[in-house]
Amino acid sequence: MILSAPDPAADPYFAAALLDLQHAAFAIEAELVGSRRLPPLLEDVVDLTAFRGCWVMAWDGTTLVGAAAWQLGDVAEIVKVMVHPEHHRRGIAGLLMTEVIARSPGRDLVVATGRDNPPGIALYSKHGFVAEGDEEVEPGLWIRRMRRSA
Ligand SMILES: CC(C)(COP(=O)(O)OP(=O)(O)OC[C@H]1O[C@@H](n2cnc3c(N)ncnc32)[C@H](O)[C@@H]1OP(=O)(O)O)[C@@H](O)C(=O)NCCC(=O)NCCS
Repeated sequence: MILSAPDPAADPYFAAALLDLQHAAFAIEAELVGSRRLPPLLEDVVDLTAFRGCWVMAWDGTTLVGAAAWQLGDVAEIVKVMVHPEHHRRGIAGLLMTEVIARSPGRDLVVATGRDNPPGIALYSKHGFVAEGDEEVEPGLWIRRMRRSA
């Protein structure tokens, strides 16, 4: 597995591949939480490339299999972590998380994920995040806010 950090905005073909990956991965979370109104599913390529935070991508040979995006501030905020469903449970998200943590030194990390998304909750818990609270962001759609202290 190779990790890299290209800017999707620099290459429209790459941006399209990343959007396909994002839509395939978050269809899984949508199924679990019972809503397709998740921000990563609503994004198009313009939204995707407008993001000016940090990215790390995972490649299996020349195939893009995973990606994580986060925003570095006083606190680092994970925006999304995604792995293509054909490559789940191979440790790819774990690799991405380790990289995000290493590239956010000295900062707390925060994330919001579906309360009813067991893979997401387990992934973040495994990497030291603890739940701070749940919020119903629209009727029936609950998110869990989690934090990892520096
Ligand atoms: C969540 C997601 C990123 C995990 O990717 P992955 O590469 O399959 O995860 P890994 O193989 O690296 O597993 C790391 C840990 O995540 C947790 N995990 C991953 N998939 C899981 C599942 N289906 N059920 C329970 N825990 C799971 C486990 O704690 C696992 O550690 P373990 O293997 O020691 O048990 C992936 O399922 C995905 O893309 N889901 C859709 C998008 C999403 O929900 N993103 C997270 C919220 S932003």
